[in-house]
Amino acid sequence: MMSCLQSSWPEPIVRVQALSESGIRAIPERYIKPLSDRPNWPKTSAAVTSKKNSETSPLINIPVIDLQNLFSNDQSLCDKTLSLVSHACREWGFFQIINHGVSPELMKSARKTWREFFSLPLDVKQEYANSPTTYEGYGSRLGVQKGAILDWSDYFFLHYMPRSQRNESKWPQLPPSCRKVIAEYGEETVKLCGRLMEILSINLGLGKEYLQNEFGGENIGACLRVNFYPKCPQPDLTLGLSPHSDPGGLTLLLPDDDVSGLQVRKCNDWVTVKPVPNAFIVNVGDQIQVLSNAIYKSVEHRVIVNAVKDRVSLALFYNPKSDLLIEPAKHLVTEDRPALYPPMTFDEYRLYIRTNGPCGKAQVESLKSPR
Ligand code: OGA
Ligand code: NI
Repeated sequence: MMSCLQSSWPEPIVRVQALSESGIRAIPERYIKPLSDRPNWPKTSAAVTSKKNSETSPLINIPVIDLQNLFSNDQSLCDKTLSLVSHACREWGFFQIINHGVSPELMKSARKTWREFFSLPLDVKQEYANSPTTYEGYGSRLGVQKGAILDWSDYFFLHYMPRSQRNESKWPQLPPSCRKVIAEYGEETVKLCGRLMEILSINLGLGKEYLQNEFGGENIGACLRVNFYPKCPQPDLTLGLSPHSDPGGLTLLLPDDDVSGLQVRKCNDWVTVKPVPNAFIVNVGDQIQVLSNAIYKSVEHRVIVNAVKDRVSLALFYNPKSDLLIEPAKHLVTEDRPALYPPMTFDEYRLYIRTNGPCGKAQVESLKSPR
């Protein structure tokens, strides 16, 4: 249960942004990853790298899907969109969506507002400093293991849903527009996630409402994590966010409009996502992997940093109501394909990442029922 988490961090918190702005030329040891976890591992020769970059990289991107036709009167156009999403969920676990119904102005003001928040003086932000019990507020680490190697980022984490968990007094009071923008952004993105849940549910053959109902209907959880990745004097030695899969249901990511950094695992490669203007990046989380009995898989991703520009991203996590048992849909469990995961609540599940920090797909893999 949540109460198992300690109430303070194992070491004094250092704000990565403050480190970055101090002008250091070398990053502290605590941020230096072992060789095999670094962004450019395995090292390829210059020739191979340039060949690889020029010949393959521009061609690879996660699928970009236009949702416009979902509401077309032409059933075949609508079906085509559903099948593009189905394919993306099976092959990538990640896709970008355009014409999704959230206004570009709101997306723009959300980015701008949060950039302004992170550019406030440190002591203003410190008023919101978080603790491991809820993670709500201004934070700089995930996980409570003493001596852990840390990621090169700060964040702000807040609860949006259920309403009973929403506490606006914990949201930034500055910039003045912040609370209003969070409320509007939360409303629109939660609505969009609800629609995506219907699409996934239909595609899994479960009936439109199934996934949403399993998540608790109106009582779903939604949290916002705003990531701030300061520029880094030695970007090749560290990561902005270590490899992980998202523990929740679905994630809707608003990436920086100027700086890339998100990488998605595809087989044994890391593919850098090239954000499309006005798009959201969608990814399947562990709870959908469990509910779909691994027909859809949550996919590992990580963030790289650079020496030149700070990067901001907003991740809206759409989660099951935290005390409901989540288990594979009966319809997707057969003699040939028994239930791969035991029932578990999201409260229980989430403790793992909150204790251990980002650990690839270790958690969902460890859950697998013995067969
Ligand atoms: C996350 C995440 C990616 C990014 O917050 O879980 O994966 O690009 N963020 O910031
Ligand atoms: Ni993530």
